[in-house]
Amino acid sequence: MNKVKIGSVGLGRLGLRHAVNIASRIQGAELAALCDVDGPKLAQTADRLGVRHRFTAFEDLIACKDIDAVVLVSPSALHTKQIKGALDAGKHVFSEKPLGVNASECKEAEKAVEARPDMVFMLGFMRRFDESYQYAHDKVVAGEIGRPVLFRAYSQDPEKFIAGSLAFGPHSGGEFLDMAVHDIDLARWFTGSEPETVYAIGGCYAHPEFADWKDGDNVSCLMKFKNETMVFLFAGRTAPHGYNVETEIIGTKGILRVASVPQKNLVEVLDEHGVRRECGENFLERFDTAYVNEVQEFANCIREGRKPEVTVYDGTRVSEIAYTCKAAFEQGVLLRFK
Ligand SMILES: NC(=O)c1ccc[n+]([C@@H]2O[C@H](COP(=O)([O-])OP(=O)(O)OC[C@H]3O[C@@H](n4cnc5c(N)ncnc54)[C@H](O)[C@@H]3O)[C@@H](O)[C@H]2O)c1
Repeated sequence: MNKVKIGSVGLGRLGLRHAVNIASRIQGAELAALCDVDGPKLAQTADRLGVRHRFTAFEDLIACKDIDAVVLVSPSALHTKQIKGALDAGKHVFSEKPLGVNASECKEAEKAVEARPDMVFMLGFMRRFDESYQYAHDKVVAGEIGRPVLFRAYSQDPEKFIAGSLAFGPHSGGEFLDMAVHDIDLARWFTGSEPETVYAIGGCYAHPEFADWKDGDNVSCLMKFKNETMVFLFAGRTAPHGYNVETEIIGTKGILRVASVPQKNLVEVLDEHGVRRECGENFLERFDTAYVNEVQEFANCIREGRKPEVTVYDGTRVSEIAYTCKAAFEQGVLLRFK
């Protein structure tokens, strides 16, 4: 197959990065089209990246005969409809998480994928494509830390981006779905198991606005997995020091920690504040290579006629777990997973 011609949808915080990556960092792929409802942003980005086809309407993009695949980086509430529309139009689909913002949307996405077994569908769980997580995962699978006892993960956005978090909040599906979804995916990936029960707490410690959509600015949950691993997740929007994503897996024979002190790089700054290491600012910085690797895998799957490891059913399961965590948070009770 020649280069995979990709149309990318949504040019916001992450969409612009995916578009730039497809234009310059993905082997065997070409950024053939762009789509965003914001006409001026679309024109400016398409000019900058030299993209000929540009559409403000998604329906026009999927009707374009010059594209083989779409990358969806649109608002979460549009994913399911766009996944179905693109697959029905015979385009391979890479969609950012989440698969859907409620259970029935996820089931609709499953049906759309099942109806087109000839198409590649992939969901953006990019942490599986981060070299450190892959390295740690290999060790767990090889049994190097024995039986997993506790999986602990923190995902915190910096307080300095709170305006963006508040703007995104109403249509994000809540913090468990928006932030903790990656840690839920990792917990299943690392333990090879599914949750049995969950208890969740949290609140609006700095920003009461999150209560308007029954969310918190900092939330946490404790789950018991079927293989008895304890899973503790914490997601927050108010980290004072930067973008803090850290993970620990405690096993019977060893412990693995991924970025327990999140660092921008290996530089130490010695100044009037003392000696310190700086922290990365956001997900784009921390997962720069992972965002490239995941779309590279999508393009490779299309070119090689194979399917990605992450399935649409993983997308549904992770979303269902996040909805149950949110329900446990809202109700303040221990919930059992179906
Ligand atoms: N995997 C990750 O680490 C990660 C990180 C951030 C965001 N995301 C996901 O990516 C998606 C986008 O997030 P974001 O932060 O970039 O959002 P954003 O709000 O910054 O950008 C969304 C973009 O989509 C455009 N848009 C809106 N409606 C559209 C439509 N009908 N057709 C085409 N374009 C449309 C908007 O104009 C905007 O440019 C969300 O689903 C989010 O959950 C994933």
